[in-house]
Amino acid sequence: MSETLFFLQLAHLKQLKRAYAEIMQRLGLSRVAIYSGHSERFFADDHAPAFQAYGHFMHWVGLDDTERGWIVIEQGATPVLMLHAPSDFWHLTQTLPDEPWIEAFDIRTSKEPAIPTVDEHTAVIGDVARLDEQSRQALDQAQIMPAALIDALDELRMFKSDYEIACLREANRLAKAGHEAAKAAFIGVGAELDVQLAYLGASRQRESKVPYQNIVGINGHAGVLHYQHYDETPPKHRHSLLVDAGHRFRGYCADITRTHVGPDAPETFAALVVALHGLKNELVHSVAPNVEFLTLHEQMHRRLANILVSFDIYQKSADSAVELGVTRAFCPHGLGHSLGLQVHDVAGLKAEDATPLPAPKEHPALRLTRTLKPGMVVTIEPGFYFIPMLLAPLKEQGLAINWPLVESLINCGGIRIEDNVVVTESGFENLTP
Ligand code: GLY
Ligand code: MN
Ligand code: MN
Repeated sequence: MSETLFFLQLAHLKQLKRAYAEIMQRLGLSRVAIYSGHSERFFADDHAPAFQAYGHFMHWVGLDDTERGWIVIEQGATPVLMLHAPSDFWHLTQTLPDEPWIEAFDIRTSKEPAIPTVDEHTAVIGDVARLDEQSRQALDQAQIMPAALIDALDELRMFKSDYEIACLREANRLAKAGHEAAKAAFIGVGAELDVQLAYLGASRQRESKVPYQNIVGINGHAGVLHYQHYDETPPKHRHSLLVDAGHRFRGYCADITRTHVGPDAPETFAALVVALHGLKNELVHSVAPNVEFLTLHEQMHRRLANILVSFDIYQKSADSAVELGVTRAFCPHGLGHSLGLQVHDVAGLKAEDATPLPAPKEHPALRLTRTLKPGMVVTIEPGFYFIPMLLAPLKEQGLAINWPLVESLINCGGIRIEDNVVVTESGFENLTP
């Protein structure tokens, strides 16, 4: 660990302690106990799927795979980190990283799963509903998941400390090697599975550690927004590759998408990919304090409308493409979301005081409706897809779409270009190299 990162982390922890103290004082709490959670076994089986710790647990320690751990915060006391370290000859017992931050915690390990001491002024947060009955009874006196506390802690996570931004920057740097290898595998005539394995190998991750399941779509699969399979056979024709894949660093997630043009794609597709890069860059440069994220999302739709018209895909005015929902058929998802310990991070759809800020009904998939402020980290991910299911209604309505051109692009699936961007005091910093 670099010395700089360590000092940033100590400052992060100090800031977190101060913020928790202020929130606890306001809510009349003397203690907050945060459960990391644990994985449930598959039905009628003895093994479990990959696990990710609760975000508010990771906020303190970044240990993204720690099961049955607790953080206990008490006014004026050193934070306690309780770890479950069973004597177990089947598995390797959890050990802490050899990093200096552990000095900031009072660490208590136990062979049996432990439950913190609670009273009526204790708030317990995390997935405790899954604990066994005896453990749940031991927490009986506490306030479980009080909404006012969750709202306040979610809001805290919306604003990243310098340490958190350094972690997100590092996660982006680590993902870059994967994206380069993925592109090379596609050029080398790989199947989706080869691209996936190249990504994992070059970014040095096992599949259970990625922040979300990598999306690797060749040809038409690039138009399936969260395509979830990896074909094992290389396709006969190669039009396009969309890779949406990230990396974790200390719990913090990179979420990056690139779209590559295959040798069999029409020239128009290559030009569209260039246009989408331009749109992504323009939107990244529009990120600044006090900008409404919804305004940026609408800017994306207006620019997509211009692209539709200038490429002769839509043969009426750009304004009507937005008004009639044509752009929404070509890009059904939101411009982006808050990014942090969760890929789709918390508090994107509530105001600073926790009043709901739901997505407008014409943009139901938008995951962030807030005014941008320094310290927020967001994704900027314009997309442009040929999704038969969404295009069919445009045909039925007899809209002025150049269908032969659309048909020639259907095999390319779609395009998404996604970067991770910090809102700074003066504008933005793009974390994606
Ligand atoms: N990787 C999921 C997303 O971009 O939101
Ligand atoms: Mn993504
Ligand atoms: Mn994203």
